[in-house]
Amino acid sequence: MTDSSDKLVSRDGHTVPLKRRASVLGADALEISGMAAATGAYGYDPGYAATISCTSRITYVDGEKGVLMYRGYAADELARNSNFEEVSWLLLHGELPKPSELQAFSDELKTLRACAPEVLATIAAMPAHAHPMSVIGAALSVMPAAHTDCIAPNDADHRRRFSHRAIAAMPTIAAAAFRHSQGQAPVSPREDLGHAANLLYMMFGKDPNPTAAKALDTLLVLHADHEQNCSTSTVRMAGSSGVNPFSSLAAGCAALWGPAHGGANEAVLKMLEAIGSPERIEEYIARAKDPNDPFRLMGFGHRVYKNFDPRATIIRDICHEVLKALRAGRGRLFRLARNLEEIALSDRYFKSRRLYPNVDFYSGIIYRAMKLPAEMFTPMFAIARTAGWAAHWCEMHEDPELRIGRPRQLYMGPKPRAYIPAEDR
Ligand code: SDX
Repeated sequence: MTDSSDKLVSRDGHTVPLKRRASVLGADALEISGMAAATGAYGYDPGYAATISCTSRITYVDGEKGVLMYRGYAADELARNSNFEEVSWLLLHGELPKPSELQAFSDELKTLRACAPEVLATIAAMPAHAHPMSVIGAALSVMPAAHTDCIAPNDADHRRRFSHRAIAAMPTIAAAAFRHSQGQAPVSPREDLGHAANLLYMMFGKDPNPTAAKALDTLLVLHADHEQNCSTSTVRMAGSSGVNPFSSLAAGCAALWGPAHGGANEAVLKMLEAIGSPERIEEYIARAKDPNDPFRLMGFGHRVYKNFDPRATIIRDICHEVLKALRAGRGRLFRLARNLEEIALSDRYFKSRRLYPNVDFYSGIIYRAMKLPAEMFTPMFAIARTAGWAAHWCEMHEDPELRIGRPRQLYMGPKPRAYIPAEDR
């Protein structure tokens, strides 16, 4: 029986009962599937800012309260007490692993880190100047051919093997892409190093600084998942067609690469370098506020967080520690970022639009202190988000309500008209 307490009344008096689906936390859903039949109109919601696309049990974000939870555990608590391998297990399997489960998972990841020769050959064949995100996308597109035991969406064993292999292999792929761009051969992963430490080792070919490895692991935890963000929704949309999971991840990587999304960390650093000194901050703030200037303050604003992004606060604190530990210069960019943050947050334009620093605002400064080139910042994001992408891809294929994604449009084109022969045009 539909709970008809929610209803829509169309202009010609049609009453459309809307079935309410209660959430465990946050907003409920109103099913609008019957709306078009009763009213001749679909919901119009560019950018899906007010649309629920699926049910999920993985992550919860409260934008008003600055809350981020993975499977019910606060992300900042996990950032302080857990590590990326444990959080990956949590996102994939729904519970914190028992010590024996974590050890087995960690041992399994070790066996899955090495890249297949075809994948390495694809990376080596890419132009050296290619952006690492395009190299990672190409490498992921080879994976279904290289690993045919983990590509069937409807097979639970395939889904499990895919999710573990994807998480294990992404650092190796990203590190090989980095070394290719430096004209260097890839470095194989080591069995004695954990996820983040191995990533730094495979990039630089030497024992990683423990503080840098720990900071990187915490960054991976904080970037691991974030509900139905642009790239995760892209993974779900591509995956809804039944395509293999690695190709779904490649689609997600493409979406993440954009400067409005995961490409923002790279854009923040380039923006800070362009600003150069505190004296020029006002100039850039004015540009960001100018409706006729496409420039936006990179690292500020968020579709969901209309309060602080809890990740930004933690990353700002880590930034301070890493700069000190790595003696990364005098932290000029960090001080400039702090200046910019203080000025922007006191400005009416940003306050009135509730624009706060987001996850990307400080992360680039840490990566730069680790001597990563700006082009490698988004790949760091992709390595982390592979855990979330894989968890969502698996969840959607376990969902009995799964349907191929196919939104509608508001057609504003020409009305029917007859063909005009070329000689009469
Ligand atoms: C991530 O969804 C996720 O969860 C993403 C993410 C994740 O973990 O997956 O959190 C990671 O992508 C973080 C966001 C990184 N991107 C940036 O830092 C790029 C800069 N930010 C903006 O492009 C923007 O804030 C977005 C894309 C993040 C959000 O865009 P929305 O929600 O569509 O906001 P909007 O465009 O509707 O902006 C509302 C107003 C507009 O002004 P008015 O038309 O009302 O006058 O705020 C203004 C915008 O012009 N505005 C900005 C601004 N962001 C929004 N003005 C200047 N600088 C900015 N950064």
